[in-house]
Amino acid sequence: MEFAHESEAEFARILDFYGISWLYEPSSFPLRRKGERILEAFTPDFFLPDLNLYVELTTLRQKLTTEKNRKVRLLRELYPQVNIKLLNRRDYLRLLAKYGYGPPDAKKVPEIDRVLASARQIQRRVAELGAQISRDYSGQAPVAVGILKGVFFFMADLLRHTSLPVSVDFMAISSYEGDSGGAVKILKDLDLSITDQHVLLVEDIVDTGMTLNRVLERLRSHRPASLKVCALLDKRARRLVDVPLDYVGFEVPDEFVVGYGLDYQQRYRNLPFIGVLKQEALS
Ligand code: IMP
Repeated sequence: MEFAHESEAEFARILDFYGISWLYEPSSFPLRRKGERILEAFTPDFFLPDLNLYVELTTLRQKLTTEKNRKVRLLRELYPQVNIKLLNRRDYLRLLAKYGYGPPDAKKVPEIDRVLASARQIQRRVAELGAQISRDYSGQAPVAVGILKGVFFFMADLLRHTSLPVSVDFMAISSYEGDSGGAVKILKDLDLSITDQHVLLVEDIVDTGMTLNRVLERLRSHRPASLKVCALLDKRARRLVDVPLDYVGFEVPDEFVVGYGLDYQQRYRNLPFIGVLKQEALS
């Protein structure tokens, strides 16, 4: 099923979960005509046959919401027998929160445009990755190396899902901050020796790949027995350096994402889900 938006896919999953049948954009209602010609029509996102209810999600930009409100008003006037419910952003986030998908109060994170991976989806995927890593490293005692800070939730959850005698270490590196010059600096180096060890590098998100590329060079110089990469998120569309990723949690679109460890100016790391930050929240 092709949805126009991830929030629609998520809504469909909630309906499926609760056994409510749905049809996606099954009918269009003409709103304005000139003779035989239809000048304007409205196609609600969902029809729920069991409830005889159309549902329109307005989780997107405010501009679109205003336009949709107008169309829904017109639709109600012209087709009084049609039952339609408009779920706005707040309603929708509340709905997700109710099912354990998000924070209890959407007002706390008004800067989030939409949820890309819910807490539940993340936990399911991380468990799968943990199981796969446990199989692949069976009989070995790898060293998991995390890159601070964004990786802290992921690393903790991932390792809880591995059944290996694993050692843990962290590195911290500087990131590019405007035109101050300089190069990637190691702010915290490894405590453990990784020479002749099987190393699994764990990253939160790979964007251009430049950070990972530098870190891999550095780790290779210690001559580990093997070196693999596990990234929670892969923002592939933005890749500049072709870095090998052995394990990937989710591919994400070319947008700024926060939550589950990922920050924007040190905020949002504690959100239990991964969401896209609204354009206007990025200064
Ligand atoms: P890269 O060097 O361009 O691949 O960038 C990797 C680093 O940039 C990650 O470890 C993150 O710290 C940060 N980063 C890249 N994209 C995002 C994002 O969408 N949200 C939060 N941090 C990001």
